[in-house]
Amino acid sequence: TAPILRKLSQMRALTARWRAADERIGVVPTMGALHPGHLSLVEAAKADCDRVVVWIFVNPKQFNNPEDLENYPRTEVEDAEKLAPYGVDAVYAPDVDQVYPEGFATTVSVAGLTDVLCGAHRPGHFDGVATVVSKIFLQTGADRAYFGEKDFQQLQVVRRMAGDLDIPIEVIACPTVREDSGLAMSSRNLRLSPEGRQQAALLYPVLRDVAAELADGNRFPPLAERARARLAEAGFDEVEYFDLRSEDGLQALDHPDRPARIFVAAYIEGVRLIDNLAVPAV
Ligand code: PAJ
Repeated sequence: TAPILRKLSQMRALTARWRAADERIGVVPTMGALHPGHLSLVEAAKADCDRVVVWIFVNPKQFNNPEDLENYPRTEVEDAEKLAPYGVDAVYAPDVDQVYPEGFATTVSVAGLTDVLCGAHRPGHFDGVATVVSKIFLQTGADRAYFGEKDFQQLQVVRRMAGDLDIPIEVIACPTVREDSGLAMSSRNLRLSPEGRQQAALLYPVLRDVAAELADGNRFPPLAERARARLAEAGFDEVEYFDLRSEDGLQALDHPDRPARIFVAAYIEGVRLIDNLAVPAV
């Protein structure tokens, strides 16, 4: 199994050797509790980099709800076992003070893209993400970083941040991995009862149906109304948003006149689930 590094100095010593050998470095940022969605990013990284680092750190700054942070699964031993078959070069699970030393005072904040969707409902969340991901990029000095489309808004925020700050890294998007039921894999799914999980599986067919209706030329607002009603009927407690937005700037759309996605966030059994689906431009 790959060594688990705790200190930035250890990480830097390794990457300095790799750089000197002109090896291409890939990083897969995670908060642990690894599932096949995360592992698909590791696989993508292994396929096109010489060296792969998996970052595991439950980032306190991106949790706007202390209970959520408290309840976040921490499964480091199992995570290392799951990574073993992939032959990654390092697991970097930094001590908190390696990321946020005493007196840490800097926030990276991406405007605009973070005003909508999850950003509108989770104050401070994307500042926490942008800040820690800047640090992931700078601490590892990776050439490429792998992110899931499951968190599409995060992907766009990270792309903007890296571009704006001239961090020389290529951000690679990987498709959402789903259960057989269609439910997007997430560590939060573990908090659902078997019934809740079954109800949650309706999210994907609802997204698919709306995508099909958009492809037929229908306008989004009435479709969203019906979709919300369907989800409420199926046992969702609250639909936080159900939006059609452009992929690029996350602008709200009435119909997909450019590359777009349907985005949803909804609660079931007190668990907040998000998903999104690309819709072809018509
Ligand atoms: P985490 O939720 O652990 O997710 C790590 C990466 O795995 C993200 O890029 C996410 O989009 C991807 N991922 C999660 N579920 C997926 C699925 N079903 N299919 C494909 N990819 C999936 O996202 C974070 O951690 C944090 O915000 C982080 C970027 C690590 C910063 O702390």
